[in-house]
Amino acid sequence: MTPLVPAHVERMIPYRPGKPVEELERELGIRDAIKLASNENPIGPSPKVVEALNDFARQAGRYPDGAAHALRSDLADVHDVTMEEICLGNGSNELIDLLPRTFTLPDDHLVFGKPSFVCYWLAATACGADFTEVPLKDNLHWDVDALLAAVRPETKLLFLANPNNPTGAYVGRDELVRLLEKLPPRVIAVVDEAYVDFPDAEDYVSALTLRDTRERLIVLRTFSKAHGLAALRVGYAIGPSGLIDYLQRMRAPFNVNAFGQYAARVALTDREHVARYVALNAQERTRVARALTELSLVVAPSQANFLLVDFARPGPEVYDALLHQGVIVRPMPPPIDTWQRITLGTPEQNDRLLASVAKILP
Ligand SMILES: Cc1ncc(COP(=O)(O)O)c(C=O)c1O
Repeated sequence: MTPLVPAHVERMIPYRPGKPVEELERELGIRDAIKLASNENPIGPSPKVVEALNDFARQAGRYPDGAAHALRSDLADVHDVTMEEICLGNGSNELIDLLPRTFTLPDDHLVFGKPSFVCYWLAATACGADFTEVPLKDNLHWDVDALLAAVRPETKLLFLANPNNPTGAYVGRDELVRLLEKLPPRVIAVVDEAYVDFPDAEDYVSALTLRDTRERLIVLRTFSKAHGLAALRVGYAIGPSGLIDYLQRMRAPFNVNAFGQYAARVALTDREHVARYVALNAQERTRVARALTELSLVVAPSQANFLLVDFARPGPEVYDALLHQGVIVRPMPPPIDTWQRITLGTPEQNDRLLASVAKILP
C-alpha cells in the first residue's frame, strides 16, 4: 500500500509552544503561575490599542480588507518603502512557512542556524526541501563564515534571526554586510528581525538599512514582541516587489484578520509604549542576568527580550522544578538541553523567577 503522506510530512513534528498558565494551574492545582516562556511583552499592548479594539468589535461580521491596504500603507510610510514591497502574514510565522513553499524548487537547498528559531526547520521540512543547519560557535554565537561555507550552488534561501532566538546573539553591521554581499545572487537572504527593537549594541543595524547590498533580501518583522500583539497574529515581510508579489500569490485570502490589521495600525501610533517596554526590558535584562550569574549560572549575552541560561543539569529536571514553583520557562532541545530560555517579565515577575531559581538550586 502506498503511504498516506509523503516522507517529509511523516518527519514533521507539531510545534510545541510555551505551556499556557491555565494549563499549569489546572495540572498542579496552583494559582498565580507566571509564564516566561514565549518571549511575549509582559506589559501587553498599548492602552490605545485596547480601547480601539473595544470599538472595533462591532465590525466582526465583516471580512477584513484582503489587501490590508491601510496597514500596508502605514507600514510603507514607517519604513519608507512602497506598498508593493510589503506582504503581511498571520504572524511572521506564516511568512516563514510561505517562503520555502513559494521559492524552493524540488532540488533546492536551505541554510539556517542551529540553535535558531525552530520554525525554519519546520518550514523547510514541511515542503520537503533539503537543508543545512549550521552550528553556532559554542552553540551561542553566529558564525558568518560557517553560514557562507554551507551555501551550495542549489541554495535558494538562508534564514538569519537577528537577534537570534533562542540564544539572544546578534550579527553586527560589518559581519552582516559581509554575509549579504558574499551570498551568491541566487540566494534569497531572509533576515528575521522579530527582536529588532531590543538590541542596544552600538553595531546592531536592521537589514532594512542594507537593502543596497543585494537584490534578494527579505526582512521579516512582527507585531508580536515589542508591540505586544502576539494574540492577534500580525507580521510582515519587506523585500523587492518582484519577490513580495509571489508571497502575495501564495498567502491565504484574508490571512490577517481585521482586528490584527486595525490593532497594528493603532500600535504604530504609540511609539512611547514600545519605548517604555524596550527601556524596561534593557534594565531587567542587565539586572536579571547579573543576579543569575551571582547564583553561579552561565547566562548567554542577550540582545533580545529573553535570556538563555545554563543550569548545567538535565533540562527537564530544572523545567519541572520551576513549574512546581509556578514559573513557566522554556526547556531547550539538544545540543543546549541543559539550558532554559527565560523571557524577561515585569520586575515583579523577574523577582519571582529569581527567588524560584534560588530555591531549586542544589
Ligand atoms: C525569531 C522569531 N521569528 C519569528 C517569530 C514568530 O513570531 P510571530 O509569528 O508571532 O510574528 C518568533 C516568535 O517567537 C521568533 O522568535
